[in-house]
Amino acid sequence: MSRNFSKIQSLPIYHDPNRNPRHDSNAIDEDQIQTEDAAYNLLHEKLNDLLATLPKDKGWRITNIFLHKGFWLSPAALKSLLMIHDYFHPLSTDIFLTAFMRCGTTWLRALMFATANRHLYKFSDHPIHRTGPHGIFPSLDSKILLEYPVSKFELLPSPRLFATHFAHSLFPISMTSPLSTCKFVYVCRDPKDVLISKWHFMCKIRSEELPPISFNEAYELFCNGVSEFGPYWDHVLEYWKASQESPEKILFLKYEDIKREPSVELKKLAAFMGMPFTAEEEEGGVVEEIVKLCSFENLSNLEVHKEGGGVQMFTQLVVEYQNYFRKGTVGDWKNYLTEEMRERIDSITKAKFKGSGLTLGLGL
Ligand code: A3P
Repeated sequence: MSRNFSKIQSLPIYHDPNRNPRHDSNAIDEDQIQTEDAAYNLLHEKLNDLLATLPKDKGWRITNIFLHKGFWLSPAALKSLLMIHDYFHPLSTDIFLTAFMRCGTTWLRALMFATANRHLYKFSDHPIHRTGPHGIFPSLDSKILLEYPVSKFELLPSPRLFATHFAHSLFPISMTSPLSTCKFVYVCRDPKDVLISKWHFMCKIRSEELPPISFNEAYELFCNGVSEFGPYWDHVLEYWKASQESPEKILFLKYEDIKREPSVELKKLAAFMGMPFTAEEEEGGVVEEIVKLCSFENLSNLEVHKEGGGVQMFTQLVVEYQNYFRKGTVGDWKNYLTEEMRERIDSITKAKFKGSGLTLGLGL
């Protein structure tokens, strides 16, 4: 299989093409390309061999997803995971934003970037205004796929920030071991709202060759744990347990808490990232500025989030940035779920989280 470099488009600000040898034809070494192509072909063989052995079920977006080490992944996500294991070199200062789909990655991306770079930019003329949260730091999952073997992650400013959807146990030990000092910011959300949000999103990006997926079908699959990167509850529980064991390594946040008290949660986030707000900053309103910059109202109205604005590239998928914004509220599930459906999801949550000390979406 040969690689298609023409797919690399609309480079966001973290990517500097001038420093990427692949964009300079004089710098390409034929021997190196052959070695890389051989490695790439091997990776595909490995992927195909693996896919042939894995249980599969219905995808929400594509025909099938596959159960790998307890989590449902698309073939592209599985390939990305293999590449992370083979090619990604974490640094001790890396910070990974991790979440199941539709739990607030877009919001946290903005909050983390604005916090880490608050000394570099004016809030009135901030890069987020131009690029949106998806242009400011990479999705590890898609970047590693799109730019292999040339992802120059080492050129990213320190601390490097990455977004990813993978479950904690799927990452290489070099990232998750309590001995490694890289950090994870995890955000989760009421599973009922996750279901609604994910169903809407998946309908928008679902392959046009497939018939639409009904809400009832998505609900059944979700309750049975069958949804990309899920089961949802296992995803959350793994990060919860890891955060309890290593609170200095994993910050566990809830979407609903950030909605309720954004400044409080933002201060927690900044302190966890090793960049606590100073008394002067707090008095000067920096916390509120960041909250305002990253608010749903502000972000969803940016030009880059309008129709025809920015896009997020995946290998066989282009997602318009505007699809990362819908309502941005807590409790939209009330407009969709019957009492019986609510009861079923809540009882799965109770059973799964029993004894863990974690509650989510139970109104407790
Ligand atoms: P809804 O579909 O419930 O509106 P992710 O970024 O992980 O894909 O999550 C998307 C969800 O977060 C969507 O939820 C989206 O509207 C919401 N969202 C995006 N930006 C937000 C923000 N700044 N504040 C609050 N919610 C936001």
